[in-house]
Amino acid sequence: MSDTVYKVGLIGCGGRGNLHAGAITKVPRLKVEALCDIIPRKAMWMNERYGFDATIYEDYHKMLAEKELDLVIVCLWTPLHLPVIKDCVNAGIRYLHSEKPVAPTWNGYLESAYIANSKGVKLTYAHQRRYAKGNLLTRKLIKDGVFGKIQRMELFSPPHLLDCGTHTFDQAFSFNDESPVTWVLGNGDVTNSISYFEVPAESFFVGHFEYKNGVKGSIKVGRMKTDGGDLESGVRVIGDKGFIDVLWDGIITRAVVYDDPSFQVEELPAYVGDAGATQIPDMLQGVVDSLDGDLPAEVDYRRAIRAGEVIFAFYESMRQHKRIYLPLIGQGDCPIADMIAQSK
Ligand SMILES: NC(=O)c1ccc[n+]([C@@H]2O[C@H](COP(=O)([O-])OP(=O)(O)OC[C@H]3O[C@@H](n4cnc5c(N)ncnc54)[C@H](O)[C@@H]3O)[C@@H](O)[C@H]2O)c1
Repeated sequence: MSDTVYKVGLIGCGGRGNLHAGAITKVPRLKVEALCDIIPRKAMWMNERYGFDATIYEDYHKMLAEKELDLVIVCLWTPLHLPVIKDCVNAGIRYLHSEKPVAPTWNGYLESAYIANSKGVKLTYAHQRRYAKGNLLTRKLIKDGVFGKIQRMELFSPPHLLDCGTHTFDQAFSFNDESPVTWVLGNGDVTNSISYFEVPAESFFVGHFEYKNGVKGSIKVGRMKTDGGDLESGVRVIGDKGFIDVLWDGIITRAVVYDDPSFQVEELPAYVGDAGATQIPDMLQGVVDSLDGDLPAEVDYRRAIRAGEVIFAFYESMRQHKRIYLPLIGQGDCPIADMIAQSK
């Protein structure tokens, strides 16, 4: 095992920045050298809270010019992810970890993929829910065939499709052996649009889709009560021998095996639903392991791009009122923003 210590610069010392900072203290081979926030007292507070002894910057360009960093962690609002990543790569940074979602447009997704591909950059996005203990357990149960052959998946996400849906699609991909999606068909309500992290979006969305391995999927996005009232975020995975309901942080609310009424899933401690407790530390440990070796990280950019492709295909389906087949070709803008503007 490598003993390389990676020098870290963290940009954005708000909510997600703090969760990442707390997680870094649990990952032995990460050393925070620089913290940057346009509100420097936030960076100073973080420095003190976690005892980093880092240099504080107000301008990340200055940080990149002055510090020799191995890994930069970007915890900024969505429209800033790509421009800041580009600046980091131009400054010579080769390891980057960013908050999700990748960008507000499909073009932004493609450009991020191009940068990672063409410049030899190791790029990861914070889909930390992949590391939730209940999600890992669900993956194992599915793989072991406990619920039989998977036939359908019902996905539930808080608003909106891009901001929260990216986690839900990523979670569902992980349950379905990472099989790609072949087509999508969906529609959303843009009359009461919302905006998260400066990305305008629909308040409600419903869609159907199909995976290459034949599994059928459906998704509902928005504030609503579902049948049992308990599944507003997460996935119901339905096989021919039973089904399992898993919230997006891996809390398993129900698991049924038709031929074994006594079946019960092992109980997990309540903290496993807490992103800061294990998910983000484990994700960052996975990132460090991927920097050492040749294998892509569990939260590799290609997985984030793949979730984004489904999302932008759904938006395209809304615009064109038809089924959209993947790969998503020739649709670079953000149709949802146009549709919201037109609904005013
Ligand atoms: N992975 C997840 O589960 C998850 C959960 C919530 C949010 N997010 C994502 O995290 C991102 C950030 O959300 P947040 O809640 O941390 O936001 P936040 O507002 O709490 O923090 C953002 C910080 O960035 C700073 N900032 C803004 N512009 C800057 C610049 N140019 N240079 C340096 N610092 C700058 C702000 O001062 C602020 O401190 C969003 O894109 C959101 O979608 C991800």
